[in-house]
Amino acid sequence: MKYLTFALTKGRLASKTLEMLENLGITCEEMKDKDSRKLVFVNEELKLKFFLAKGPDVPTYVEYGAADIGVVGKDTIVEEGRKVHEVLDLSFGTCRMCVCGPKSAKELLEHKELIRVATKYPKIAKDYFYNKKHQTVEIIKMNGSIELAPIVGLSEVIVDIVETGSTLKENGLVVLEEVCPLSARMIVNPVSMRMENERIKELISKLRALLQEENK
Ligand code: PRP
Repeated sequence: MKYLTFALTKGRLASKTLEMLENLGITCEEMKDKDSRKLVFVNEELKLKFFLAKGPDVPTYVEYGAADIGVVGKDTIVEEGRKVHEVLDLSFGTCRMCVCGPKSAKELLEHKELIRVATKYPKIAKDYFYNKKHQTVEIIKMNGSIELAPIVGLSEVIVDIVETGSTLKENGLVVLEEVCPLSARMIVNPVSMRMENERIKELISKLRALLQEENK
């Protein structure tokens, strides 16, 4: 039997995914060794392989078939726009993509002013402002700590992820508009979906049942 390979987003999404898989009896003992420098972890018995990657690289591994299955945030799936099948909403890692800024920026949005928007997600921001709001804006691509931008005068607003809202609060910013809800999703390589259909389908239906059980 061929190995089924998983690309997981390094960090909390990977831990949550492994927790979920463990509930289905799918474990990877090798992965629990914190001192290990290994990059790819194997469960020989179940013919599974796992590796950890940076979020934006997960859809890339899955599109090219280097991984059959990936777990990554919806934000990254939309932003990367790779050819992958999104098969399941895993219901964890829930947060929202929002337009945020100082309260005073509300007016600039209402009047559809030509404002600057700092974001790690230029594609999502562009789609929101141009196609949904019909507002012309200048998008400035940043790589992190986006909340800094309106504070230091780089931009009027930001498009960023809001989870608890505490980063905004601590920096005197507010949510001005909601772009979309987000959560962790399972994605599958289109060819794997056809070739390994039964194994993948079985996994998806087991996960779905588990999620339904958790929701009760
Ligand atoms: C994310 C996001 C916000 C923050 C939101 O940043 O970009 O800054 O978390 O969380 P909160 O609403 O619970 O405060 P992350 O920590 O991933 O780092 P980044 O600055 O590199 O984007």
